[in-house]
Amino acid sequence: MSIESVNNFHEKYKIVVTSGPTREFIDTIRFLSNPSTGRMGYYIAKAGVNLGFNVTYIHGPVPARFSNVDDAENISVISTVDMLNEVINRIEPFTILIMAAAPADYRPEKKFDHKLKKKENPEIKFIPNPDILQTVHELIEKNKTPDVLLIGFAAEIQNALEYATSKLERKHLDMIFLNDLSKSDSGFGVDTNELTVIHKDKSYEKWSTESKEKLGYRIINEIEKCWG
Ligand code: CTP
Repeated sequence: MSIESVNNFHEKYKIVVTSGPTREFIDTIRFLSNPSTGRMGYYIAKAGVNLGFNVTYIHGPVPARFSNVDDAENISVISTVDMLNEVINRIEPFTILIMAAAPADYRPEKKFDHKLKKKENPEIKFIPNPDILQTVHELIEKNKTPDVLLIGFAAEIQNALEYATSKLERKHLDMIFLNDLSKSDSGFGVDTNELTVIHKDKSYEKWSTESKEKLGYRIINEIEKCWG
């Protein structure tokens, strides 16, 4: 790895980062979602910009402070299918996709076009949403798109390393960051994370607890170390 190639990494690759939850509406006001705030993805996108990358930041409904990264392309989406479409539109050679979002895995089969009344008590059937990482993997295989790096996150509570490693394989990822939800200083809504980076060859390294802001830089530097 030459010094010149490392320095050129941010000119060669662009970064697409997703963050936050998605919402799947049941009726005109009620939805299925999760407590992700988008903080980790926001800081990855911010670090990417500060390190000189061209960054697209695609986020679900997140608090205002995590909704706009200066000097990035900022895209706001609601549902998992919306997020998928925005991601797909930006996949081209030399793209690093970092899926820090927590997209809803299911959506109601039908959305009611009025606010449901208590007495209606409907049976709601949920159908699976597409998996964004898997769909992008299939697309780049089909189109033979070169030099696309797929980076995922795994939020796990039990058998964390085992589940995260199987996600890396199942989703054909180049790298996955395991987020240990069994720790109170890691995961949704807190300012710090305890991450383990797992590589394609299944080797892994546990990082000490750090602020999500610092981890944003460390994550980009780790990617650069492996592919720069
Ligand atoms: N992800 C995705 N598309 C989805 C759901 C998740 O691309 N519809 C991405 C997440 O952004 C994350 C990775 O897949 O980078 C793992 O997400 P996670 O929710 O942990 O995995 P699931 O595939 O939903 O597996 P499970 O719920 O069974 O743990």
